[in-house]
Amino acid sequence: MKTLKDFQCQNKKVLLRSDFNVPLAENGEILDDFRIVKALPTINYLLERGAKVILISHLGRPLENQKYSNQKYSLKPIVQRLEELLKKKINFIDDCIGEKVKKEVEKLKSGDIIFLENLRFYEQEEKNDSDFAKELSKLGEIFINNAFGSCHREHASIVRLPKYLPSGAGFLLEKEIKILSKIFKEPWRPLVIIIGGVKVQTKIKAIKNFLQGADDLLLGGEIANVILRAKEICVGKPLPESKTLSKIEELEITNPKLHLPIDVIVSPDRTGKVYIKQSGPGVVRRNEEIFDIGAETVRMFGGIIQGAKMIIWSGPLGFFENPVFEKGTREISEKIARNHQAFKIVGGGDTISALRKFHLIERFDFVSTGGGAMLRFLGGENLPGIKALEDQS
Ligand code: 3PG
Repeated sequence: MKTLKDFQCQNKKVLLRSDFNVPLAENGEILDDFRIVKALPTINYLLERGAKVILISHLGRPLENQKYSNQKYSLKPIVQRLEELLKKKINFIDDCIGEKVKKEVEKLKSGDIIFLENLRFYEQEEKNDSDFAKELSKLGEIFINNAFGSCHREHASIVRLPKYLPSGAGFLLEKEIKILSKIFKEPWRPLVIIIGGVKVQTKIKAIKNFLQGADDLLLGGEIANVILRAKEICVGKPLPESKTLSKIEELEITNPKLHLPIDVIVSPDRTGKVYIKQSGPGVVRRNEEIFDIGAETVRMFGGIIQGAKMIIWSGPLGFFENPVFEKGTREISEKIARNHQAFKIVGGGDTISALRKFHLIERFDFVSTGGGAMLRFLGGENLPGIKALEDQS
């Protein structure tokens, strides 16, 4: 695979795909800028070498959440943060293709940087549309993929763009591949995997792979709740989507390596103001939703974590953003931090944000910018975004 240093970038228009999909508060405030900070070495390298940098990224899933205005998914807050970090003015364009964008790109001088609006405002991005990728490719002369966190997605800007431009990996993508490959090839055992968070669809395949390759697999967060619901251990919310249900059906939950919550924290709503209670998954009521793992689960998971030599974690174990539901995620973070013998790996925007909240991020040996991408890579899958770069070289 070609990498950034293989290219002569002076005066060239470089289309740089980053993953700036960072956690944002309701008011648009950036809750964690880790992915932005990690993109800086590549951006600075390009600017110092006199490239004309065209930044592209996605943010959230605007098409799945059309009840919100596009403003909620605008990359504008990211641009402001990037300007502060680079100490440089960035020209932000409120679109990513079309005449207006082309005109602004033509005005770029060596060492300038332009930031385009969310790629996912166009459904063609997620549909992996070749015409959309062609339109994007016309903006640049070189394509650099630095978006490790999105390399598991078969989306136009990830897998199609390398077909139309000389392409390579940015420093961040290169580093993630190097470190995670070493971890994948030489895991320390017992190897304990912890998976939580949302995005159930993305994680099922990784779970199946880890049931082969890992020693223990601990599940919390929405992924665990959906499995409990699908396997009819629990009747609470949320109801899994049918496409998720069929995938979960194939999952063997009696596998002794797999550990699901044995008690949970529930409430009728996410504020936790009506009431909060701890119960076994089997006695959750229909009107209740699970927002955290319970104390017995923390104890059970803690025992497994204590004996691990390698721990890989992605996805919070509960709705930690609300302090009344943060206990499970916090206590598991503390237990991981207290295991001094284990090599500790964590990835994904929300998990990193939780660890920063608990001041424990420094206790991890490697922090990946990828959540789903990291899990799938370490589960042994070929990520389409990486394959697309390899095929092109
Ligand atoms: C992530 O946060 O995992 C990546 O940015 C990909 O986002 P997605 O799950 O919405 O495709």
